[in-house]
Amino acid sequence: MNFQFYTPTQIVVGRGESARAGDFAASLGQKAFVVMSRSLSENGAAKPVLDSLAAKKISCVEYIKPPGEPTVETADDAARQAAGARCDLVLSLGGGAVIDLAKAAAGLASNGGAIQDYLEGVGKGLQITRPALPHIALPSTAGAGAEMTRNAVIRSQQGRFKKSFRSPHLYPTVAILDAQLSLSLPPQQTAYSGMDAITQLIESYISRRATPLTDALALYGLERALFSIREVYKDGSAVEHRENMLLASSLSGLCLANAGLGMAHGFASGLGALYDAPHGKVCAVLLPHAVKFNRCAQLDKLARIGRLLTGDASLPKGDCADLLIQYLYDLNREFGIPADLREFNIPKDEHPLLIKMSMGNSMSGNPITITENVARTILEALS
Ligand SMILES: [Fe+2]
Repeated sequence: MNFQFYTPTQIVVGRGESARAGDFAASLGQKAFVVMSRSLSENGAAKPVLDSLAAKKISCVEYIKPPGEPTVETADDAARQAAGARCDLVLSLGGGAVIDLAKAAAGLASNGGAIQDYLEGVGKGLQITRPALPHIALPSTAGAGAEMTRNAVIRSQQGRFKKSFRSPHLYPTVAILDAQLSLSLPPQQTAYSGMDAITQLIESYISRRATPLTDALALYGLERALFSIREVYKDGSAVEHRENMLLASSLSGLCLANAGLGMAHGFASGLGALYDAPHGKVCAVLLPHAVKFNRCAQLDKLARIGRLLTGDASLPKGDCADLLIQYLYDLNREFGIPADLREFNIPKDEHPLLIKMSMGNSMSGNPITITENVARTILEALS
């Protein structure tokens, strides 16, 4: 056995814990740059968090994330405002895009420069050298697990790319998992983000870089998420299931940061960069196909997940894996998620570009090596 596992983030789990954000912030800074989504700012969910900062005499500069995933322009703007206001702490309240934007602001505010210069593959290859501002992340969606990872995904509309700003300095300092923050998430986003978490758990579990520790965390997360996702889709106020999904999402972040991902996320990165397709929806579409494709290479592990669904230890491995594949197709149908990529209308002449943009870090974790030729065959079958 030979492996490493790393996370520097303090994880705080509990209903109502977001109202204690000020307690954690008090030892980290005096002026907070608070990145949040418009919906949380307007529906009152942010109030207890902001009140808790005020109670500790921490002043705030509020920054509402524009709709969509963070762009190069938004990241530079947020960092400029955080540095200009001399904030010494960042707090994020929202989904994965909000947390990623906050990570970018935290890293850039203390290191300076333009984000594009730091982005993998498209920039000057700059690395941040100084610690980022301390960051308290409060996820309000259960999916991306961004509160547990060291990268921020940044997109550019003009350059049609979606690349990572990555550094060990970007791990949030504290992640507060308060299921009450996710109660207002509408069913469709609940399904998309939940399927992202499930995809991350399955892909990191069968990844070629998986370790015993990530395996244990992934199985624990799947044991909960595979059942709770149905419950939170039906009834968003089911707080115990929201809690399961939030924990599963954070576990998926821990797993992907330590074990990598696979072909569903490989294609999702290319599709997300070129077509503005919702990340969780794309992952959900691709997941059953990815499991089917990798079935023979990871039969033991896939059967083990299938057994979580049936509980029948006597069922042959092949049947358990098939049961999992069918379950994932059924979940998608239940959530109104298509069975393939046809609705994204990917022009055939863009397949080579899409494949090129999909062959990144995630694809390299897939248990079966995906060459460009293999990727072309898969893509043609699905679109
Ligand atoms: Fe993901």
